[in-house]
Amino acid sequence: MQTNLLIKNKKLNTSILIKKNYISTFVKNIARKNEKVFCVIDSKIKNKFNFIKEKNIKIITIECGEKIKTINGYKDLAEKLIKNNVNRKSVLVAIGGGTLGDLAGFVSSTVLRGLDFFLIPTTLLSQVDSSIGGKNGINTAYGKNLIGTFYQPKNVLIDISVLDSLPKKEIKSGYAEIIKHALINDYAFFCWLEKNINKLLNLNKSILEKAIYKSIMIKLFYVRKDEKESLLNSHSRAMLNFGHTIGHAIESHYNYKKYNHGEAISIGMITEAKISNYLGLLSSTELDRIIIHFKKYKFKIFDRILKEKKLIKIISKDKKNFKDNINFSLINKIGSSIFYEKLNKDKVYKILQKI
Ligand SMILES: NC(=O)c1ccc[n+]([C@@H]2O[C@H](COP(=O)([O-])OP(=O)(O)OC[C@H]3O[C@@H](n4cnc5c(N)ncnc54)[C@H](O)[C@@H]3O)[C@@H](O)[C@H]2O)c1
Ligand SMILES: [Zn+2]
Repeated sequence: MQTNLLIKNKKLNTSILIKKNYISTFVKNIARKNEKVFCVIDSKIKNKFNFIKEKNIKIITIECGEKIKTINGYKDLAEKLIKNNVNRKSVLVAIGGGTLGDLAGFVSSTVLRGLDFFLIPTTLLSQVDSSIGGKNGINTAYGKNLIGTFYQPKNVLIDISVLDSLPKKEIKSGYAEIIKHALINDYAFFCWLEKNINKLLNLNKSILEKAIYKSIMIKLFYVRKDEKESLLNSHSRAMLNFGHTIGHAIESHYNYKKYNHGEAISIGMITEAKISNYLGLLSSTELDRIIIHFKKYKFKIFDRILKEKKLIKIISKDKKNFKDNINFSLINKIGSSIFYEKLNKDKVYKILQKI
C-alpha cells in the first residue's frame, strides 16, 4: 500500500492527500501561501501540533462532540471569525472529528459567502466518511443535519498517525461507516473486513490504510455520480445513508447522548438489513452473516425505541422522504444496495414490530 497518496477530483474541485506525520507541515504550508489562517482545533488534540506559534495563524480551540453542531455552535464560531477581522482572503483549517468538520464546513461556506476551507479529519469516522464529499451541517430540535450546505474543502489531509490517541469506542464508531461502505457496494471488501477486523480495530497501520483508502473510494464513487443527492436509483448518494434513516432517528431521540454516531448507525444497519430481509430483498443467510459479524465484535444491534411509535415520528422528518413515504437505502445482497421508496410510516411501524 502506497503511503503518500493524492486523490484529485476535478469535477468536485477537491483533493485528498493520505500522508503520515504530516499535519504540522501541511498547516505551515497553508500559512505560507495565505494572508490569514483561522485554525479551528478539537481541544483534545491541540497539543499534538507545533504550528501554533506561526504569526498569521489564529488558533481557535473547541471542545467537540455532537453538542457543537447547533445554531449556537454556529453563531459562536462565525462571530469569532468576524470579531477577529476575517476577510475574503482568509482561509479556515479544521482539525478534528466529524462534528468539528461538519460545523466548520458550514461556517466556511456561509461566512462572507464562502471562505477557502481545508479539512484535517482526526477520527477514524471522519477519515473514512465525513471529510469526503463536501456535506456539512448542524442539527435542530427536529432532527439531525437539517441545516447545512454542500461545500467541498479545497484539500483534505488524512493522517493516520493522529489516530493513536483515539479511544477504542471511537475506533469502533469509524468501523461502522467502513462496514457500511462494504455492505452497500463491495462484497470482496466485506470478506476482507471479516478477516482483518481485529487488526483494524488494533490500528495495524497497513490494514488501516487499506480500509481507509477503500472506504474513501467507495464514498467518492457515489459523490462523483450524485454530488447533490438528486438521483433516485442505486447510484444515488443516498445509498450512503444505509443504516442512517433509523440511526439518525435513534440519535435524535436520545438527544445525541446515549450512543455515538457509529453505535446508532450500527443499530440502524442491522435493523435496515432486517427490513431488507423482511421485504424479500436480502437472503436470511446473508442477514445472519452480517449479524454474526456485528455480534462477534460487540457492535450495538438493538435498542428498545425501535418498537415505539415515537421513533416513526422522528423518521418521518428525514430529509430523504417525500410525500407520505419514508425512503430507505436497503441492501439486496452484501455489497449491493437499492433505493426503496415504497414504505409509508404505518407499514414501517408494523415491520418494526415483526422483526
Ligand atoms: N458530513 C458528512 O458527510 C458526515 C458523514 C458521516 C458522519 N458525519 C457526522 O460526523 C459526526 C461524528 O463524527 P466523529 O465520530 O468524528 O465525532 P466527534 O467529532 O465527536 O469525535 C469523537 C470524539 O473523539 C475526540 N477526538 C477527535 N479526534 C481525536 C483524536 N485524534 N484522539 C483522541 N480523541 C479525538 C473528539 O473530541 C470527540 O470526543 C456526526 O455528527 C455525524 O453526523 C458527517
Ligand atoms: Zn454516518
